[in-house]
Amino acid sequence: MQRAGALWWRRALSGGGADGGAGAGGGGGGWVEPAAGAGAGPALAAGPGAARRLRGLARVWPRFLSAAEEAALGRELEPVLGRQRYQFDHWDGAIRGFRETERGRWGAAGRAALQRAAAAAFPPDRPPLGLVHVLDLHPGGHVAPHVDSVKFCGGTIAGLSLLSASVLRLVSCRDPGEWLLLLLEPGSLYVLRGAARYDFTHEILRDEESFFGGRRVPRGRRISLILRSPPQPPP
Ligand code: OGA
Ligand code: MN
Repeated sequence: MQRAGALWWRRALSGGGADGGAGAGGGGGGWVEPAAGAGAGPALAAGPGAARRLRGLARVWPRFLSAAEEAALGRELEPVLGRQRYQFDHWDGAIRGFRETERGRWGAAGRAALQRAAAAAFPPDRPPLGLVHVLDLHPGGHVAPHVDSVKFCGGTIAGLSLLSASVLRLVSCRDPGEWLLLLLEPGSLYVLRGAARYDFTHEILRDEESFFGGRRVPRGRRISLILRSPPQPPP
């Protein structure tokens, strides 16, 4: 089992990278992505600059998981997560009020759901790492703005959300006026790649700030399953 806080180095703030990262993953009818203009859609809201820059690079697939898949993943994770305490004092630089683990072996239902997510979010010739990062965020916890470390993560990050809705915010490292919000309902899948992964910070808003457009999104306990592509070897 992971020691609490032992995964902090995976998201140590990194300076980003020149490499644009990803291939042409995804596709399929379910993706919602930034429109050419700006404004709010059902799962995504963006300022005009970000909508243009992140088209095809930040997407949400609402209701990607069936209710049965969500329940199966939750049942499998609960005993593992329940053995740990939420970390509040143990501020790891990015996340507060969390417990986490990495998991490589899954029951049949969980494995099938994760394979479906990997196929939807990653190009076939660049599959994600076999270990899935599981992050259990307390209702009072949040993920502060950060860029995942290029030492441990390649060009694509994909996340499944369980239990309660949350808002993921992307903010341009270069121009903080460029931003994009993703509404992550339980059962949704999101993908960040290329500029969305390297040139924007991402964060999960704390309860007090958790709004999507005009809509309040109360933050309950949330579990995410995060798939990452392998780090790129240094040139
Ligand atoms: C992380 C992270 C986002 C999420 O752990 O690096 O950004 O969806 N998590 O939980
Ligand atoms: Mn991250």
